Amino acid sequence: MEGITNIFHLKAPGNWINDPNGFIYYGGKYHLFYQHFPYAPFWATMHWGHAVSDDLVHWEHLGIALMPTKDYDRNGIFSGSALEKDGKLYLYYTGVSYCKEKPDNIHLPEGPMIQSQAFITSLDGYSFDNFHDKKQIISAIEDTNIGDPNDCRDPKVWKVDDTYYMCLGSTHLGEKGVLILYKSEDAVNWEYLSRLESDAFGTVLECPDLFNVDGKWLLICSPCGNNVDGEGYDNQAIIQPVEFIPKEGMVSLNDEAQFLDYGFDLYAPQSNLDEEGNRVVMSWVRMECPMVPKDNPASGGKLWNGMMAIPRVLEVRDGEIYTIPHNNIRRYFLSDKCKCEDNGHIVKRSDGLYSQIIMTITEGEWINLNGYKIGLVDGQVVGDRTELVPQDVNVHKVSRTPYVGSKVNLEIYCDPDLIEIFVADGKYVLTHATYRNTAK
Ligand code: FRU
Repeated sequence: MEGITNIFHLKAPGNWINDPNGFIYYGGKYHLFYQHFPYAPFWATMHWGHAVSDDLVHWEHLGIALMPTKDYDRNGIFSGSALEKDGKLYLYYTGVSYCKEKPDNIHLPEGPMIQSQAFITSLDGYSFDNFHDKKQIISAIEDTNIGDPNDCRDPKVWKVDDTYYMCLGSTHLGEKGVLILYKSEDAVNWEYLSRLESDAFGTVLECPDLFNVDGKWLLICSPCGNNVDGEGYDNQAIIQPVEFIPKEGMVSLNDEAQFLDYGFDLYAPQSNLDEEGNRVVMSWVRMECPMVPKDNPASGGKLWNGMMAIPRVLEVRDGEIYTIPHNNIRRYFLSDKCKCEDNGHIVKRSDGLYSQIIMTITEGEWINLNGYKIGLVDGQVVGDRTELVPQDVNVHKVSRTPYVGSKVNLEIYCDPDLIEIFVADGKYVLTHATYRNTAK
């Protein structure tokens, strides 16, 4: 597995991956960790896999960074984030201990699990001593008026002036999602600050991420049960402007949330700054397909499931949130590795496997990209993967953006497994897994 490179879309190095974790530019490299079950292509005892990149385009898989070693993380290293402090890399995560393991598969819980927060430090971002350098920092919550010991996870840590902040996702009695805030002076000892419960957070809140873009505080989070239409996944990532007053340690919601992506495959996004200070989001793209595809340069012929969307930059323009492809991705398609075909309507740049398509689509028009159809219908961009997905897989086969008008520009990125459609300069994005090689 080691040393094998993925270009463009980071894909599982065999077996299973989900959320991006610990995304950071540290020591001159981009480090991206991810939820990983290294033994089979399905979700089970979580580890953190590790990949690095110079440019967010070419990725090198480095194998497993974090694994269960402690009583409090014996059944899994759940999602979390990274921070650089005094030259060291700090990785915050949720340690998971199942109350009971399934007798016939000890990698899965039978019933609830206890979740607490922990961290591990590394001197160089490459070596992780899972036996000596971990520390539990927030034990399982006892007060159910604050959160839930069985669902309290995904620490995201950031710094404002001299104070460190952490947000966690949780629930009130499994009924309403809760955001919990902590603060710390040293990034090691944490003090509870406040909690925010909201209908916008579904039944359980996962992977909250609070940050500032162009002077505006934004919250990305992944509520469970906020898109219950019987089709595809109930849990969908959202983004919204929030009021955050660091000194008071309080967050409040003041605007409607919007979906981060309208294909409804994208989940558990996590952001950090790139080397130029842009706010970059990495996201897991899911489609739990019964026939798991084999063709992926990083998987070495093994079955694999799960990949990351391209890095996306968040911008706020006239108070509106835009999500655009990272410039390094655009630059790759302008490099001499890619050929350009321009038929006067569609500009296609491709290295043979990965493609960028730039065009304007008008009402009633459809294009067909090897079975994947894109149209503009009633002023909404439609992505249709019906021909590419087996009928018995329950995902949104046809997805639509909100209304964009009778003519709109599209910037499309695709490879055989994944298509990402940026609409109206990034006002909306529609992403679909296609697993085109073997999914049929
Ligand atoms: C989101 C999530 C997180 C959790 C992780 C477990 O997809 O459920 O809340 O930490 O995945 O793999």
